Amino acid sequence: MADNLDTTFGELEAAVAQAALSTAEEIDAFRIRYLSKKQGRITELLKGIPRVAPESRRAYGQRVNALKQAVETRLEQAQQQLMAQERSAPVDLDLTLPGRRPALGSLHPITQTEREIRRVFESFGFAVAEGPEIEDDWHNFGALNFPPDHPARDMQDTFWIDAPDEEGKGVLLRTHTSPVQIRVMQNQQPPVRVIAPGRVYRNEAISYKSFCLFHQVEGLYVDQGVSMADLKQILNSFAREIFGDDVKMRFRPSFFPFTEPSAEADIWWRDDSHPDGGRWLEILGSGMVDPEVLKAVDIDPEKYTGYAFGMGVERIAMLRHNISDIRVLYENDVRFLSQFN
Ligand code: PHE
Repeated sequence: MADNLDTTFGELEAAVAQAALSTAEEIDAFRIRYLSKKQGRITELLKGIPRVAPESRRAYGQRVNALKQAVETRLEQAQQQLMAQERSAPVDLDLTLPGRRPALGSLHPITQTEREIRRVFESFGFAVAEGPEIEDDWHNFGALNFPPDHPARDMQDTFWIDAPDEEGKGVLLRTHTSPVQIRVMQNQQPPVRVIAPGRVYRNEAISYKSFCLFHQVEGLYVDQGVSMADLKQILNSFAREIFGDDVKMRFRPSFFPFTEPSAEADIWWRDDSHPDGGRWLEILGSGMVDPEVLKAVDIDPEKYTGYAFGMGVERIAMLRHNISDIRVLYENDVRFLSQFN
């Protein structure tokens, strides 16, 4: 190996061995100086191979490799030293500061309202039941005394999964939670006292007060001697619990195939911008369970009577929080939802 080359190697080896590598900047600069693909010293040496006399090439190559090794070893050691130093360095930490609270989401206002309704009825002694959202024609209509082809079926615009066949058997998205009444009474003799919260679906025009899917809480009480007075009493108590003692509620006669007599209840929605200072918003349908319904589930209507009701959770949430359009409950806009933390 030519003398001047030998000197170059000697200098580089010494420089590698002695380089100060105590900071991240020094380590970076060192890596670039020797290993950079463009102009690193090692790269330059490798590029020089063609100019080395053939008989010296082997020795040259070995010396470059050894130098590269030395660079890599120093880099690794320096890196580890730096990390160890950082780990043991005293940190500026005030352990008496309170921890940071992680940001939490919140329950959707529909969920909050449904839980509130549940809480009230549980305190009145009601158990909670559930049923499927995909129902058959019989549970959703037939057992609830909707005769086949009866116009009352049109009251609830149905999303059919399997349209009804000649015998009237079909599969649908339940249009109300009343089929859960049937399912509960099929499995249990009176006394029955349950609520059934859940989602329901209706293929109807969407507006500020109606959406194609919404939530109901069904209620059912069947026992000996249950009367319409009991129904009104429980709904009045419920309204005071949810809306406060100054709530204004009215009952209107109505019609449902599965209750007789039937009534709907409205809550007064105070609204100063409205010419009348507010308006009535319907929140529920109710009535005395029709004897035909009891017969369909083998409960003796001579012995037992019952009341049932079905309330709209969204409508109640709208009244409680003064929400003027049901659709915002389904838009999942965080600016809206974060008001309900
Ligand atoms: N299922 C009825 C509806 O969705 C409400 C209702 C329930 C009426 C129970 C009477 C008794 O409109």
